[in-house]
Amino acid sequence: MNVLKRCIYGISIVSLASMNIQCKSDKKVEETVTEAKATDVVTIEKSAYGTTPKGEKIDSYKLKNQKGMEVDIITYGGIISSLKVPNKAGKSEEVVLGFNSLEQYMKPNPYFGALIGRYGNRIAKGKFTLDGKEYALAINNDPNALHGGPEGFHRVVWTAEEAKSGDNASLKLKYVSKDMEEGYPGNLTVFVTYTLNNDNSLDVVYEATTDKKTVVNLTQHSYFNLSSDFSKPILDHEITIDADKLVPVAATLIPTGKLTDVTNTPFDFRKAKKVGAQIEAKDEQLKNGLGYDHCWVLNNQDKGERFAASAYDAGSGRLLEVYTDQPGIQFYSGNFLDGTLPMRNGGTYTRRTGFCLETQHYPDSPNQKDFPTTVLNPGENYKTKTSFKFSVK
Ligand code: BGC
Repeated sequence: MNVLKRCIYGISIVSLASMNIQCKSDKKVEETVTEAKATDVVTIEKSAYGTTPKGEKIDSYKLKNQKGMEVDIITYGGIISSLKVPNKAGKSEEVVLGFNSLEQYMKPNPYFGALIGRYGNRIAKGKFTLDGKEYALAINNDPNALHGGPEGFHRVVWTAEEAKSGDNASLKLKYVSKDMEEGYPGNLTVFVTYTLNNDNSLDVVYEATTDKKTVVNLTQHSYFNLSSDFSKPILDHEITIDADKLVPVAATLIPTGKLTDVTNTPFDFRKAKKVGAQIEAKDEQLKNGLGYDHCWVLNNQDKGERFAASAYDAGSGRLLEVYTDQPGIQFYSGNFLDGTLPMRNGGTYTRRTGFCLETQHYPDSPNQKDFPTTVLNPGENYKTKTSFKFSVK
């Protein structure tokens, strides 16, 4: 990639060695543009995506490697609006559900491709207590709070900084969530860095600090369909989840507080199994989730970043492997997609045409004393990493 500095309205003298510029005219205004060079292993290209009704300019960044993978990220919601990866014939195609305009992303939708925070997943009745003080959140998933609230991190504008090092192209997004925004205490400074390498892996690193005790649980909400045929349900995808236990939920998808063994249940994905194999089984948990919409207790929690889950589509040969340092993963089989949201090129997204693998802490942790803590104190650094690795077999 070539970074150029230009004098707006002026003529610039570009020193290629130092990338310094001098403006001939007295106009000091500069803009930075990025251009991809054919020799670059990974590239980043920025373009204007749209403008919000409040007049905020939204940009789109395309990270691209030489192995046929490219990811588009918009600064609205930190949304992955497109992710293209090769199939077994080497054909690069779209594998995430998405829309083709900012207007559509700004309309109510089930978090397509978005960054989720300050607290991913549900908090029972939208209430939690820290140091004896009760906090009340908006009830946006009756009777609970879901995914950081109606104006959560999925609906804010992030600032973006691009960086390249070796075979890695990164986009570092920043957002400062104000004290009591969406009901959460503390000014929270959040960074989310997406990095694409030349090995068809997309890493997501989440960082946060606070000036008051708060709760944090950040995740990414892409809906995948590895077949690239979004009119087809994902029921034939084979899923693996490295988890001996599940976080069972009651009817409103709030954990019961127990962790149960997956053995001999439709939730045992320790060996690859098709999503559709048991999704219609008579099972209390499947009934509560209307399918899979649960958090699994990942194994090897003391190991830092390790294999968590995979999804394989035999037709295209695409394999997605998810690695994370988080204790849990929410596998959601797109049960609430209902044919009302437009696909990019006509038609609508119908039930179970996409699935999510959301790495995270367990739902409702702020109210569950036996779950790993999601409290962040001033002076502490929240830092977690998840990698989405693509290959074919
Ligand atoms: C939740 C689902 C919810 C979906 C979209 C998922 O993370 O687990 O219950 O319907 O997000 O809102």
